[in-house]
Amino acid sequence: MRTCFQSAIGCGLLVFSLAASTAAWAQDSSTALHQRANAAMCANCHGSEGRTVKDSTVPSIAGLPRDYMVQQMLAFKEGTRPATIMHQIAKGLTETQITSLADYFAAQAR
Ligand code: HEC
Repeated sequence: MRTCFQSAIGCGLLVFSLAASTAAWAQDSSTALHQRANAAMCANCHGSEGRTVKDSTVPSIAGLPRDYMVQQMLAFKEGTRPATIMHQIAKGLTETQITSLADYFAAQAR
């Protein structure tokens, strides 16, 4: 049987790949946390997970296509899409937050 001493390179690689996958996991879960925290800002009006109740005056945003959502948010932010509320909310978000929110809501079931 080969031990770590006989195959230092093999052992090193194993440790390295374990460390790398742990770091990737940590990053993924903190991104997910940020995403959910940001999405919570929208829940008051759009419902949790972006799904509004039937006949709501606020549109449902769960499962909207990602690119459509990014375009709409940027249009609200720039004032090219008239709105009652969303222009104010979009102005407070960075483009990174907008794309992250779009990823989140696009992934929710309609
Ligand atoms: C205070 C209530 C409120 C909050 C909070 C809110 N929205 Fe909205 N949202 C609206 C309303 C009302 C509309 C319809 C457009 C308008 O009049 O502003 C809308 C429209 C939208 C649309 C356009 C949907 C479509 O079908 O074109 C998107 C996308 C959207 N909101 C995303 C978000 C995101 C993302 C957040 C959280 C950062 C958010 N909204 C927070 C009330 C809200």
